[in-house]
Amino acid sequence: MDKFLIKGGVPLKGKIEVSGAKNSALPCLAAALLTDETVILHNVPYVKDLITQRRLLEDLGATVLTPELRTHKISATSIVTFEASYELVKTMRASVLALGPLLGRFGQAKVSMPGGCAIGTRPIDLHLKAFEQLGAVIELESGDVVARAPKGRLVGAEIGFEKVTVTGTENVMMAAALATGKTTIRNAAREPEIEDLAELMNRMGARIRGAGTETIEIDGVEGMNGAEHTIIPDRIETGTFIAAAAITGGEIEITRCNPSHLRAVIAQLGTAGVEIAELNQSTLAVRRSASGLKAADVTTEPHPHFPTDMQAQYMALMTQAEGDSLIRETIFENRFMHASELTRMGANISIHGNEATVHGPTKLSGARVLASDLRASASLVLAALCATGETLIDRVYHIDRGYEMIVRKLRSIGADIERIADSSSANAEAGQGV
Ligand code: EPZ
Repeated sequence: MDKFLIKGGVPLKGKIEVSGAKNSALPCLAAALLTDETVILHNVPYVKDLITQRRLLEDLGATVLTPELRTHKISATSIVTFEASYELVKTMRASVLALGPLLGRFGQAKVSMPGGCAIGTRPIDLHLKAFEQLGAVIELESGDVVARAPKGRLVGAEIGFEKVTVTGTENVMMAAALATGKTTIRNAAREPEIEDLAELMNRMGARIRGAGTETIEIDGVEGMNGAEHTIIPDRIETGTFIAAAAITGGEIEITRCNPSHLRAVIAQLGTAGVEIAELNQSTLAVRRSASGLKAADVTTEPHPHFPTDMQAQYMALMTQAEGDSLIRETIFENRFMHASELTRMGANISIHGNEATVHGPTKLSGARVLASDLRASASLVLAALCATGETLIDRVYHIDRGYEMIVRKLRSIGADIERIADSSSANAEAGQGV
């Protein structure tokens, strides 16, 4: 498996560009299944998860052309199967996003039930319950979810999510778009990716109102058409780069981002001593304040609050802050795997249930560490960038899932990082040249 070798201690300087949002591109590709016309998506990030999603669509019978690396032309004209295989779902949970559009358009879908993952059990019970409220019959057969609309078409309904779920909201939006009648989703997720999906779907002829708020209303339509859409920038990649500048004491400009999508992150990092200036609607200038990093408590919550996908990176940053910071993780029950690896580098972190206290600052020194999931691997890269000596990060296939050309991008602002490719692993990165 590929590894990263990082020599720390270099203040990052220069301009770094943000790619399209993985967590918007995934549902937007799935939404193309809702029509037999062509959907063109621009700014699709070239990361492993999108390559998997593309394969999923092709396995179903869609054609996906890429006239340019980040442009996908998807035609779901002749869907030959309604089944998303275990092979694919086990590598990427987001494959469950095929359920909604297949059920909505064809009245049937079969998707392997996703198992747990490093950060939590992550059930999809709320997705399935909502589909049942839309009139679907759901059965579990040898590990597969088999869903069908007995009347051939779903029927609009009132859906109140007990818990805010991002892909649950997206799946129901896609299923309800072609249902008869009106669907109302209450306690819906409000992430910018939900708004982006709704914008694409409305361009495809859907009738969705209220995306981005707690209540989404969908008037079912008879059919949907092709459309062209540009995926929003990745707000978590943006947040990760802000932390990279701050933890190395560097000064960078982050371009092609959207500051309005990460207000809570910008506010929290500001409290912790990071100076973040909005140069314009798509550019941030970032540096550590002269008085240094200060400990600041944080709680992860659904949007518009501080995102769980920035928690690990924030923990790495707090190892360099003056004082004790309490980090409360309320979304996933097992999302502190990175803490023990950071401790191996010299961090001082104590964990009690879903609360971690970081005692800072401590000097970090290079070590061999193991990435356990996508955001944990980002936090280890950040720690390595400020540690003395060399760090070797193993299992970086996790980071390739959601960060496009991370080695090339960080090197472009001065980071001393290299990928030690495992000769046997033919991975997307190899295609990216670094
Ligand atoms: C999305 O996952 C993101 N993934 C995750 O990003 C992100 O961490 C998460 O939302 C929260 O913001 C994509 O968009 C592809 P949820 P999702 O359903 O939709 C529980 C990354 O790093 N729940 O909002 O799977 C669940 O267990 C990834 O890019 C149920 O109990 O998350 C969790 O505790 C990691 N039953 C909470 O709700 C359900 O049916 C929120 O999960 C669904 C969810």
